[in-house]
Amino acid sequence: MACSSVISAVTRRLEGKVALITGGASGIGECTAKTFVNHGAKVIIADVQDDLAHSVVESIGPANCTFIHCDVTDEDQIKNAVEKAIATYGKLDIMFNNAGIADENKARIIDNTKHDFERVLSVNVTGVFLGIKHASQPMIQARTGSIISTASVSSYIGGAASHAYACSNTQSMFVGLDDEGLENVMNSLANLKGVTLKAQDVANAALYLASDEAKYISGHNLLIDGGFSIVNPSFTNMFKYPEEEP
Ligand SMILES: NC(=O)c1ccc[n+]([C@@H]2O[C@H](COP(=O)([O-])OP(=O)(O)OC[C@H]3O[C@@H](n4cnc5c(N)ncnc54)[C@H](O)[C@@H]3O)[C@@H](O)[C@H]2O)c1
Repeated sequence: MACSSVISAVTRRLEGKVALITGGASGIGECTAKTFVNHGAKVIIADVQDDLAHSVVESIGPANCTFIHCDVTDEDQIKNAVEKAIATYGKLDIMFNNAGIADENKARIIDNTKHDFERVLSVNVTGVFLGIKHASQPMIQARTGSIISTASVSSYIGGAASHAYACSNTQSMFVGLDDEGLENVMNSLANLKGVTLKAQDVANAALYLASDEAKYISGHNLLIDGGFSIVNPSFTNMFKYPEEEP
């Protein structure tokens, strides 16, 4: 296997690429949109929060970023968003299925309603299915493309979020929760000390997966959780730093 010793001088890792980001009006999606544009991509933000999305487009610069109103649970709107990307920028290289919602965490299953359960699944599961379905069609024709979906550690660490949210997050880029209240738990159990998860950490992971550097990576579940999900707190002695009290 050949290994190039030439270090690329190219720092804009998405130069010339076109990305569609669902849920790009705030949080991780907004940060990723800015990061992608800084790396040379054109970005279409697909979201239901029109005013917020327009302000994000303004802050990024309309020359490199566009908004389309899109509810990811509506197949026609997802299809339309993909078509808008191609009509505006000529192609679609990257689909980031990032839109997601959470519901109130009611620990007892009997307190949970079917309505809330289906609402979360419609965005977090059906929305991702539709995003993959419609983004893949131009990518299949072009024989190239990257599809990235955000998930949560709550899909395999019980009790970190609601039942519906945990069920819905069987996606492929796992983000550790840093919500208020959980932040301390995350920080105390993660094996990385003194760092807190930021939207930029997720955006950087998406940048890597969307770039040509990840061209041989497929079906990968990338954990962005500071070791939270792999550390068994029962084995506390194994994870103590030398300077910590025994
Ligand atoms: N923030 C975290 O700590 C964390 C942890 C684990 C996973 N995640 C996941 O990361 C993703 C982004 O989270 P965030 O923290 O940036 O949340 P956020 O609420 O800031 O952003 C989510 C965006 O999705 C949009 N959205 C909601 N429903 C939509 C729909 N039907 N159609 C289109 N857009 C819709 C919202 O308007 C919002 O702009 C979500 O999928 C979330 O589940 C976040």
